[in-house]
Amino acid sequence: DKDYLIAPSILSANFAKLGEEVDNMLEAGADVVHFDVMDNHYVPNLTIGPMVCKALRDHGVTAPIDVHLMVSPVDAAINDFIDAGASYITFHPEATNHIDRSLQLIKNGGCKAGLVFNPATSLDYAHFVKDKLDIILLMSVNPGFGGQSFIPATLEKAREARKFIDDNNLDCRLEIDGGVKVDNIKEVAEAGVDMMVAGSAILKEPRTKEAYKVTIDAMRE
Ligand code: DX5
Ligand code: ZN
Repeated sequence: DKDYLIAPSILSANFAKLGEEVDNMLEAGADVVHFDVMDNHYVPNLTIGPMVCKALRDHGVTAPIDVHLMVSPVDAAINDFIDAGASYITFHPEATNHIDRSLQLIKNGGCKAGLVFNPATSLDYAHFVKDKLDIILLMSVNPGFGGQSFIPATLEKAREARKFIDDNNLDCRLEIDGGVKVDNIKEVAEAGVDMMVAGSAILKEPRTKEAYKVTIDAMRE
């Protein structure tokens, strides 16, 4: 079935025209705004923070904002993004000393919470916090940069995560991030993923609403 959400990553947006880019991708049919936060410490790149999230809300963005924290430590950033209007907040278990506490902090702030699993990170981290997970996010590249190639072993991991969610009857989205394109999205969906992040595949030249719609429509075919 095609009832997955599509979440373009604004990492590939033109940051000089961010409001316009986000309006265009949403009008083109995107469901969610994927917001990549990098701190030049947990990952070797530096991006955007809570002020930019707040600016998108002030600009009039009402769609869910999916904040993917690639920062360490995480708790202060969680509080800042709750205040900035985030909808979902996910973090990497290796980036906090107290995974359960950080998840609870997100939920106490009224946001949906999730863990992000790097390509080599075991899904075991999910086991004892499963009732706190609204999202399991599988990295299909090593975090830090857009435009990398999909790591094929992630498909097997997605099937394992789907089974975990179904066997435990969890109300939890299975999200994937990295290297998702028109030509591999079908097999990703077949592995049980129901939320697709795609940066460079959607947000590219000629950067028009019409062009974004062509790609997003093709991703739903
Ligand atoms: C990578 C980021 C991704 C990235 C995806 O660390 O978390 O969200 O922007 O970009 P593409 O779709 O180009 O791989
Ligand atoms: Zn991301």
